[in-house]
Amino acid sequence: MTLFHPFSTLSLSFLFSILLSNVVVSYQQDYETVPALNSAEQEAVYRVLDSVNSGIPWRSLFPDDLCSSAPHGVVCSYFSDSAAPNSPVTAVHVTELSFGYVSDNTPNPPCAADAALSPLLFTSFKFLRKLFFYKCFNHSTPVSFPDDVAAVGTAATTLEELVFVDNPSFVGSLCGILRNFTSLRRVVLTGNGVYGPIPEFVGGLVNLEELTLSRNQLSGEIPLGLAELKNLKVLDLSQNFFTGNVPSTMGYNLSELLKLDLSSNGFSGKIPDSFGALKKLQFLDLSFNRFGNFRVPMFLSEMTKLKEVYLSGNHLGGRIPEVWEHLGNVLRIGFSDMGLEGNIPASMGVFLRNLSYLGLDNNKLEGTVPQEFGLLESVGEINLENNSLSGRVFFPSSNFSRIGHTLKLGGNPGLCVDDEVFCSAENGNNNTKNASFGHLKLCKKEPQRPNPVPLEESSSSAQVFPDSMFVFLGLLILLNF
Ligand SMILES: *[C@@H]1O[C@H](CO)[C@@H](O)[C@H](O)[C@H]1NC(C)=O
Ligand SMILES: *[C@@H]1O[C@H](CO)[C@@H](O)[C@H](O)[C@H]1NC(C)=O
Ligand SMILES: *[C@@H]1O[C@H](CO)[C@@H](O)[C@H](O)[C@H]1NC(C)=O
Ligand SMILES: *[C@@H]1O[C@H](CO)[C@@H](O)[C@H](O)[C@H]1NC(C)=O
Ligand SMILES: *[C@@H]1O[C@H](CO)[C@@H](O)[C@H](O)[C@H]1NC(C)=O
Ligand SMILES: *[C@@H]1O[C@H](CO)[C@@H](O)[C@H](O)[C@H]1NC(C)=O
Ligand SMILES: *[C@@H]1O[C@H](CO)[C@@H](O)[C@H](O)[C@H]1NC(C)=O
Ligand SMILES: *[C@@H]1O[C@H](CO)[C@@H](O)[C@H](O)[C@H]1NC(C)=O
Repeated sequence: MTLFHPFSTLSLSFLFSILLSNVVVSYQQDYETVPALNSAEQEAVYRVLDSVNSGIPWRSLFPDDLCSSAPHGVVCSYFSDSAAPNSPVTAVHVTELSFGYVSDNTPNPPCAADAALSPLLFTSFKFLRKLFFYKCFNHSTPVSFPDDVAAVGTAATTLEELVFVDNPSFVGSLCGILRNFTSLRRVVLTGNGVYGPIPEFVGGLVNLEELTLSRNQLSGEIPLGLAELKNLKVLDLSQNFFTGNVPSTMGYNLSELLKLDLSSNGFSGKIPDSFGALKKLQFLDLSFNRFGNFRVPMFLSEMTKLKEVYLSGNHLGGRIPEVWEHLGNVLRIGFSDMGLEGNIPASMGVFLRNLSYLGLDNNKLEGTVPQEFGLLESVGEINLENNSLSGRVFFPSSNFSRIGHTLKLGGNPGLCVDDEVFCSAENGNNNTKNASFGHLKLCKKEPQRPNPVPLEESSSSAQVFPDSMFVFLGLLILLNF
């Protein structure tokens, strides 16, 4: 029975925010003197709790003032008539309502299989700042915001956070959902049945810092109004049915953006060069759209804060540009299946020192695997499968075993490994052979190569090592497994 989880932590903390006329002051709570929640609001909380889960006897479990003792997820704030510090508290109201058991740390009231969205949520809480539903609506009967527009009244000007996560049967047009809220700071509607376009009026939500609309049935083009959201830090429209060009004004105006995810939609046209103006961007995912640039955008070189960039599954084509010099923070690059041609730039190995994942698979890349990849100390996977790479796979200045384990090289018939390495793997350790080199063929002996340095000398010194020396070091390491 999870019954007791939700109630083990009470939501009241000792430090309350006091809000009056947009002035916030901190206040040390004194239990003796604070007012109780008024009976109408208390009754509305019970009814909303019943609508979410009628199987729990909320009234008998929480018979007292709900702002002193409430289920986790019901949060009150105390208000005073004056903004002066320590001025007396005169009222208390419900300001946050969160439903759906998330974890033992966030044991919101669990939603029953027939959970409903009570209209009281929109009419009975004049001070509501946050509304949160997690995995509550997943049944055959669709659940929506009230049709009666006038009914969505009282929370309209106060609601700052609207969060619906993984509620497949929560449906409605985005326009209908957002139209009556004017103070929204955070909109997270992910994994629901929300449909329709992003309304133009979204540009009027001047406080908006996060707009996450991933995994819905949204469609249409990005409205120009979106670019007016100057405080936006997170824009995630991934896994919907959006189409059309991305407005270039987004790059010029959304200067606070940290995360931009437009992946898995039907966006087309050129990726705007103006994105280069998004100087704070850390996460850029444009993968699996129909962008057609004829090349990887050069503006990447200007995004010096970038940590992750994904462009996979677009028809960008062209060569991988030399944009990496100032991108030392990059951790993950996904450039798979983009029609890339030409060589892999050695500069990727030189500059991307923090790289942990590089996906260049399923392109038309030629030439060798850059020896500089051996410099990538923290790399976990380099996937170069299904290209037209050729030549020796060889990393003179690195731990052959470490880099070898990270490489995926299958589907490059022109690649080969040295016989020493291959044979050592063959005879010694099949695990290393599998992980490193797939089914690569042996390189043809190069006639002029010096003979391998004898084993005894390998520990000798700091001279300039010939290539074969490193092969031998690699061999030693492989044998050590
Ligand atoms: C809600 O929004 C609609 C459309 O913008 C408007 O006509 C209506 O007056 C609003 N209702 C309230 C209560 O603000
Ligand atoms: C919704 O219910 C189905 C069937 O019970 C389940 O497979 C799916 O994971 C649920 N989805 C969510 C988001 O909880
Ligand atoms: C958006 O950027 C364009 C181009 O720089 C500029 O003309 C426009 O005034 C900006 N709009 C807003 C709302 O900042
Ligand atoms: C790599 O990341 C570390 C922090 O994890 C950072 O201090 C360092 O500057 C980064 N390297 C480069 C080349 O930016
Ligand atoms: C490479 O191509 C093969 C055969 O088409 C496929 O099975 C494999 O999944 C591809 N590798 C990657 C990384 O996509
Ligand atoms: C080479 O890498 C392997 C695997 O990460 C590690 O166990 C080994 O200690 C490394 N050897 C040297 C000489 O750094
Ligand atoms: C490695 O695999 C080959 C066949 O693929 C086999 O002949 C050899 O004995 C294996 N070596 C080890 C150490 O398992
Ligand atoms: C190496 O590959 C062979 C054949 O592909 C397979 O039978 C063997 O289990 C693999 N070894 C490891 C350690 O994955």
